[in-house]
Order: sequence, then C-alpha cells, then structure tokens
Amino acid sequence: MNSKKMQICTSILVLVLFSVFSSLEAELQVGFYNYSCPSAEKIVREEVALAFATNPGIAPGLVRLHFHDCFVRGCDGSVLIDSTTNNTAEKDSPANNPSLRGFEVIDNAKKRIEARCKKTVSCADILAFAARDSVKITQGLFYSVPSGRRDGRISLTADAFPNLPGPQLHLNLLNTSFLSKGLSLDDMVVLSGAHTIGRSHCTTLTQVDNRLYNFSGTNGPDPTLNSTYAAQLQQACPQASTDTTTVVPMDPDTPLKTDTRYYANILANKGLFTSDHALLTDPTTASSVKRFAKDKLFWLNKFTAAMVKMGKIQVLEGTDGEIRLNCRVIN
Ligand code: HEM
Ligand SMILES: *[C@@H]1O[C@H](CO)[C@@H](O)[C@H](O)[C@H]1NC(C)=O
Ligand SMILES: *[C@@H]1O[C@H](CO)[C@@H](O)[C@H](O)[C@H]1NC(C)=O
Ligand SMILES: *[C@@H]1O[C@H](CO)[C@@H](O)[C@H](O)[C@H]1NC(C)=O
Ligand SMILES: *[C@@H]1O[C@H](CO)[C@@H](O)[C@H](O)[C@H]1NC(C)=O
Ligand SMILES: *[C@@H]1O[C@H](CO)[C@@H](O)[C@H](O)[C@H]1NC(C)=O
Repeated sequence: MNSKKMQICTSILVLVLFSVFSSLEAELQVGFYNYSCPSAEKIVREEVALAFATNPGIAPGLVRLHFHDCFVRGCDGSVLIDSTTNNTAEKDSPANNPSLRGFEVIDNAKKRIEARCKKTVSCADILAFAARDSVKITQGLFYSVPSGRRDGRISLTADAFPNLPGPQLHLNLLNTSFLSKGLSLDDMVVLSGAHTIGRSHCTTLTQVDNRLYNFSGTNGPDPTLNSTYAAQLQQACPQASTDTTTVVPMDPDTPLKTDTRYYANILANKGLFTSDHALLTDPTTASSVKRFAKDKLFWLNKFTAAMVKMGKIQVLEGTDGEIRLNCRVIN
C-alpha cells in the first residue's frame, strides 16, 4: 500500500470510529449496561420488590422521584443529591421536602451495583429503572428503559419551584410547563394518570391547593369538587393544620394499582387537585380523560411511552457529567 492509499484508509477509519463514538454519545440505548454491568437492572428490580414488600408506598414515591428529577435540570439524578453546609439541594425545596420518598431504595441498589461494577451505572439510570419497576409492581406494564444517562453535578433548591408544576395550576399553565420540557399536552394528560397511585400530604391541600376551605373567599370548598368527597377530605385534613404527617390517598379506591381509576375519579368530580380537575376544562383533554377511563390498556401503552419520553428530558450523555459513587454526594 502506498502512503496516499494509507492516508485515505486512515481517514476512513477515523471517520468510522468518530461516527460510532458520536452515535454512542448521541442517544440512550435499551441495555446500555448489557456488557459493562449485566446485573444492574436486575439488582434495581430486586431492591424495588424488597422495599415494596414492607412499604408499598415506595412505588408511587419512586415514580414521582423520577418525574421530579427529570423536570429539574433534566433526568440527571440531581434530585438525589443531599444538601451540604454550603448548598441547599433540590430535595430540600418545599416542593420536594417532606413529600418525596424512596431515596433509600436508590441507595441500596447503588451500593450493590457499585460492589459489582465500580463507577459504571449512573444514579439517574438507577432512578429511571426503579420508576419503571414501580409501575410494573403496581400492576401496570413492564417497559424497556433506554439508559446511558450520566449524573449531574448541580442541585439547587431554587431550581425546584420554577420547574415543577404545582397542584393549584389550571390547564394553560400545566400545558406551558410540560411544553417547556418538550412534552405535549397529551403527554401531560397521560402522565397525570400517575396520580392513580400514591398520596398527598394534607398540608398540600390546606396550604398550596386551597380547594377544601374558603375556596376563593366562598367560605366553602371548591364547588367543582364532589361535596361528599370534599367533606371526607375535610375530616382527614383539618383547616389551618400544619401537621406534615397526615396524608390522604390520591385514588382512595385503588391507591396502589396503576389502573385508570384516576380518570374515572376526575369524571366523577373527585380529582384531588385543581390540576387534576383541570383536565376536564378543555374539550380535547376531557375527551382523552373519558377514553382513558374506559380503556386501561390503551392508556397504559401511552403511559409507558410517555414515561420513556419523560426519561429523555435534557439527559447528560457520553462523557458529560459523572457517574456518582454515592447518589447523595457529588464526586
Ligand atoms: C401535571 C402536573 C402535576 C402536578 C401539579 C403534580 C402534583 C403533585 C402533588 C402536589 C402531589 C402530592 C405531594 C404530597 O403532598 O405528598 C403529587 C403526588 C404524586 N405525583 Fe404528581 N403532579 C403532576 C404530575 C405528575 C407526573 C407527570 C407524575 C409521574 C409520571 C406524577 C407522579 C406522582 C405520584 C406517583 C405521586 C404520589 C407520590 C407518593 O405517594 O409518594 N405526578 N403530585
Ligand atoms: C441488550 O440486550 C437486550 C436483550 O438481549 C437487547 O434487546 C438490547 O438491544 C441490548 N442492548 C445493547 C446496547 O446491547
Ligand atoms: C464549603 O465552602 C468552603 C469555603 O468555600 C470550603 O472550604 C468547604 O470545603 C466547603 N464545604 C463543602 C462541604 O463543600
Ligand atoms: C397549549 O399551548 C400551545 C402553545 O402555546 C397552544 O397552541 C395550545 O392552544 C395550548 N393548549 C391549551 C389547552 O392551553
Ligand atoms: C375567606 O377568604 C376571604 C377572601 O380571601 C377573606 O376575606 C375571609 O376572611 C376568609 N374567611 C375566613 C373564615 O378565613
Ligand atoms: C358525590 O359522590 C357520592 C358518592 O361518594 C355520590 O353519592 C354523589 O351523588 C356525588 N355527588 C354529586 C353531586 O355528584
């Protein structure tokens, strides 16, 4: 081979290698850890199952944790970082504290994974897997989670409120919030169905979304809330109470089942938050609510697809960010 040919061959090789590497960096992949840490997803599944057996509430907790991770600085595990003397982290914003739960499940999985595959599997991926396993274990559907996320190195309490939609929001601002993350109005309606599992703190209902008492100065509850349900909620959540330990289920009928009861509740004016009831205030979203209420498999397929889409918000890939050793601490 002469030197000219050699040069051309080298150039081609460099180009091929470059495109292989940039395609690896470009996108998350299902089975990203097939070779580097084949037991990663299994370990997460086992830890979710173990925790669920003693406290099933961790399943909704982990689904919400992934959502709150993705909406603040992208799905980069930033919600898992602990505050330090110098920095108050996302998780300590009132939008997250004391309501978020499930952190220990991520810690336990991370510990076992680190013991097998040092500094290989990101905390952001562990959280995405754990949310998936939580959907499955609450009788939803299994879905494949593209992985290869890297962990972020920034977590600021000030980022939480501006990026997380509040329960007092009406449709136009919910729409805006999701659009700003690259998610559609339909994704918003579909993902809100996650409220078919889990709980709300009473303080969220008495101090943030004021539907139960003196709604808009009326001295009564929100008239769009079923009055029997409103009375039950008032019993559970006394006015002006600041007790942060009292909680109510968001779907009292099947609080631990990923089903479509959430949408049926909304149709019966028993959506818990203003943001839940808001789905009835536009003809398009209202017709989706009706369709989802009737067809669990239709909704579940859309839900799992929307979870995958949510899991891709502003992810760090390739050599960006880091792989944390401890999900609570920046390396
Ligand atoms: C559409 C805008 C949304 C709003 C305004 C909203 C708001 C809330 C609020 C206020 C709570 C109760 C927190 C508490 O006081 O304990 C909650 C709980 C929950 N949210 Fe959302 N959320 C929204 C969307 C989502 C999405 C997209 C998901 C996941 C895909 C999700 C999953 C959950 C889950 C599973 C819980 C229960 C958590 C637990 O039991 O620990 N939410 N949400
Ligand atoms: C990992 O293995 C699974 C199952 O065999 C396969 O579906 C997936 O495409 C593989 N992913 C990679 C990146 O090798
Ligand atoms: C906090 O900031 C001080 C001064 O900049 C620094 O010396 C210290 O190491 C920091 N502590 C932590 C936990 O980051
Ligand atoms: C959602 O926002 C988009 C973009 O601003 C707008 O075109 C659409 O009408 C909005 N939909 C609702 C129901 O607010
Ligand atoms: C109810 O709200 C109105 C208007 O915000 C306020 O003027 C009134 O004092 C409130 N009533 C009670 C009992 O708190
Ligand atoms: C509210 O719900 C109860 C059942 O919990 C039902 O009997 C009642 O008819 C509902 N009220 C309205 C106004 O729909």
